[in-house]
Amino acid sequence: MMAALSAIALTAFVVWRLIEPQPLARVGQTQSTAVTPTVQIGGPFTLTDQSGKRVASAEFKDDLRLIYFGYGYCPDVCPTELQNMAAALDELGAQAKKIQPIFITVDPERDNVEFMASYVPNFHPRLVGMTGTRAQIDEVAKAYRVYHAKVNSESASDYLMDHSTFVYLMGSQDQFLTMFRGNTAPDKMAAAISKYLGSSN
Ligand code: NI
Repeated sequence: MMAALSAIALTAFVVWRLIEPQPLARVGQTQSTAVTPTVQIGGPFTLTDQSGKRVASAEFKDDLRLIYFGYGYCPDVCPTELQNMAAALDELGAQAKKIQPIFITVDPERDNVEFMASYVPNFHPRLVGMTGTRAQIDEVAKAYRVYHAKVNSESASDYLMDHSTFVYLMGSQDQFLTMFRGNTAPDKMAAAISKYLGSSN
């Protein structure tokens, strides 16, 4: 068990180290240069949205996707990040409609369709909340190199989740464009996103 956990932690660390040296500032300097991590990140996925409908990412068509992984019971980090995403979209004004904001839970046991339906509208009217089975979520999280782990607690219902807090900007073919560290200021996020809108639309 400990070995397995260490391996997961080490993998998360290695992935983080691979990603971290990519200076996100470069995104703002070169119009068409995407930050290319040394590992493959992301890809198409099919999950269940907050209305209970199975949705494939390809259905978002020409839109870029702004994706965050977290969980609904998160006391502060996730709400802050979702608010930052919404604020970045507000900054983009009319261009924001070319961006599909997506929240993918890493805690599908609690974040079911019903929960998502009440949760996502708190942040943005177009925010899609995705859930699924544990296996489906794990597969998508793995593709996006999202670290997530349940933090042990005495109560089965009150546990916390440890998770990475990157916000991913993906292209219309689910290809990786760039990613933002947790707590990136909305105006910086918006400025970086607009470069991709400008060069691809
Ligand atoms: Ni969180």
